[in-house]
Parts: sequence; C-alpha cells; structure tokens
Amino acid sequence: MKKNIPIEFQSERKVIPNHIKWTWIFFPLFLLELISEELNIFFVHLTKDSIINFGSRKFNYASLKRNGFFIENGYLDENEVEKLKKLLLKYKNNKKNKSSILKKEIEGSIRYRFTKKPTQEIEELTKYNKLKAIYSTYSFKNPKISWMESFTSSMSKNQLIFAGHPHIDSYRHQLKFVIALEDVSKNNGPTSYLASTQFFNFDLLLCYFLTWIYEKRIVKGQKQFLPKKIIRDYLINKKSLFLMKKGDLSIFDSRGIHHGSLIESGERHLLWFYFD
Ligand SMILES: [Fe+2]
Repeated sequence: MKKNIPIEFQSERKVIPNHIKWTWIFFPLFLLELISEELNIFFVHLTKDSIINFGSRKFNYASLKRNGFFIENGYLDENEVEKLKKLLLKYKNNKKNKSSILKKEIEGSIRYRFTKKPTQEIEELTKYNKLKAIYSTYSFKNPKISWMESFTSSMSKNQLIFAGHPHIDSYRHQLKFVIALEDVSKNNGPTSYLASTQFFNFDLLLCYFLTWIYEKRIVKGQKQFLPKKIIRDYLINKKSLFLMKKGDLSIFDSRGIHHGSLIESGERHLLWFYFD
C-alpha cells in the first residue's frame, strides 16, 4: 500500500473489501445502531418543529429535512466574514493552539482541523447557538462538534480534491455546516449533492455497514466506496450545487450522496462545523 497518500486517492477502490469475510459477524450490532439512527430521524420528523426563533427572526428548516440540505443566504455580512478570517488567523498563530490543530495537505488543498472548541469570540461571530438550534430541529442527539477551515486553489487539470468522488460520510445523520469565507461559484469547486439521498436506501446497506466498521476502528485505514450502479445514478441525476456568496451558510446531512466538484479556477475558502 502506498504510504502518505490518503486512501481515497489510492488507485484501488474496493466496494466489497476482503475483511467482510470476517467482519460480517458484527452486522447485528451495527443493525441495532442503524435502527436507532433511523428511529431518531423518524421521530424527529414526526414530532419536532422545523422553525427556530433567533433574535427577532424566525427561520424555517423544513427543506433541510426533506432534501438533506439547506442554504441560508447572508448568514454573515461582509464585515463579519472579514472579522472571522482575522480571528481564525489569530487562532492558528497562537502558539497555545498549535498542538490541537491538525493540518492535512495535498497539492492545492490545505485543511486545518481544530480539535479544541472555538474561542468565545469565534462562537459568537459564527452564531454557534443558532447552529445548535438548527441541529436540534434535525436530531434528538446531543452532538459532538468539531470544526475545520479549508483552503483549495486551482492548480492543474488532474488536481486531486478531498472528497472529490461521490460518497457518503457515515451511516449516521451528521450535519455539516459550511460558512463561505469567499464566494463559491461553479468554477471554484462547489459541493454537489443529490437531494433526499440521506433517507434509508437498501442498496447502500453495505456502505452504511462499512462506515460503521471504520468508525469503530474494527478495521483501520480504509474507506467505503459506493457501488457502480449508485455512482451511475448519481452522475445522471440532477444534483444541487451549493453555490454561495461570501457569508452564506450551507447545511447538509452528509449521509446523502455528495462530492466536492473540481476547482477549475480561483480559490475556495470555507469554515466547517461538523455536528456528529
Ligand atoms: Fe463528504
């Protein structure tokens, strides 16, 4: 196996990995967790309101439940974005934070994963409480939250992009919140998402199971890949591109099928919050 190359970029993408010969014994355990995940979403849909009050305004996130994604325009204004960028820079330059920042890099892309919670200033500026309120319209769970800043620049035609192939992130309904720190247009790699694929799909049962295996670290250093038929359907169906102006917020359930599209020109700068 090639060293230091993230698995998603290694040539062999096995839909049915060899370890399934013995890891199938964990299937009943996984099934219990999957059922609890599905019941969670089912009862949330049944009982929870999609409307939150924030400040003096009301926001409706019903389409997040229906489609698996939502884009909120003007989440932050121009000044707030500029202030946020400065705070992020300050955070990264602070020696005290160095050991809690994980940097992941491939040509043209850098990701800073922050393992400590954001500072109060960053929480206030990014309306952290609002993100939590949105999550609570979507799930009964108490989320584990992590955050990340990503930079991607256009380098070459065959450039590798993190998450550049159609995939699901987990058998769980995680929500990912993305604040655009610069405009995201068709040319600089918007996320592409096939609406309503976050709902249970029997054809993805093996993929759900494999994400469970890897999350539980029963087998390490592997990723699941979608079956050819699912990829074909994904490619021919009309997907939604998350086109954003600076300061917009996109939210998506990363169990739905999605990918980061190629960056043809310019740069992309995003701030992510993962609600696990
Ligand atoms: Fe993803």
